[in-house]
Amino acid sequence: MNQDQLKQLVGRAALDYVTPGQIIGVGTGSTVDCFIDALAASGLQVAGAVSSSERSTQRLQKAGIKVLDAAEVQGLTVYIDGADEIDGQGCMIKGGGAALTREKIVADLAERFVCIADGSKLVETLGTFPLPVEIIPMAAAQLTRRFAQLGGSAQLRAGVVTDNGGHILDVRGLSISDPLAFETEVNQWPGVVTVGVFARHKASVCLLGTAEGVKTLTF
Ligand code: 5RP
Repeated sequence: MNQDQLKQLVGRAALDYVTPGQIIGVGTGSTVDCFIDALAASGLQVAGAVSSSERSTQRLQKAGIKVLDAAEVQGLTVYIDGADEIDGQGCMIKGGGAALTREKIVADLAERFVCIADGSKLVETLGTFPLPVEIIPMAAAQLTRRFAQLGGSAQLRAGVVTDNGGHILDVRGLSISDPLAFETEVNQWPGVVTVGVFARHKASVCLLGTAEGVKTLTF
């Protein structure tokens, strides 16, 4: 199976975590696109979805799924999203699609984070994938210096403005051995909107697409 087929596999597997009649949280990315397509094809009726991006909103609406504002819900039982990297504890790097801030907001509403990913996303230590950080543009130079002090090389993602009007720094060369401490520290830096380490909002479950089928990791 190629990577696209593995994404389709876990997109379909995530349907097991959808309860008909409920409002679900929906993330962003090519794996989530597979989930949205599988949901539309399944005939499962959800009451609606809280979406983490304009991209997913458009796909959900095209599939006939009602999209609700985050402010309209008190909470969600489940949030389904992909990841750029996930470690053995369920901590993730996210934001390859620049939707990390809204993803963290929707994840915060949910009791369970179900991560769907192809097997290549499972890593020993987070940091090989360039870490996305949404920032206020004015802080870019100072934040670049701060990441350099941690051994990281930050680069502004050219031409990208997030759904919130922010910019993205991609930080290469980090090895994030303590994701919770790292997230807590970087979140304090002035000008950081959201750091793409999801340790406080880590996965509860990961559906990992492998050649042998879907592996379910629980954390
Ligand atoms: C978007 C994300 C995505 O979940 C992440 O980039 C994975 O994307 P894909 O499913 O396309 O591999 O964090 O901001």
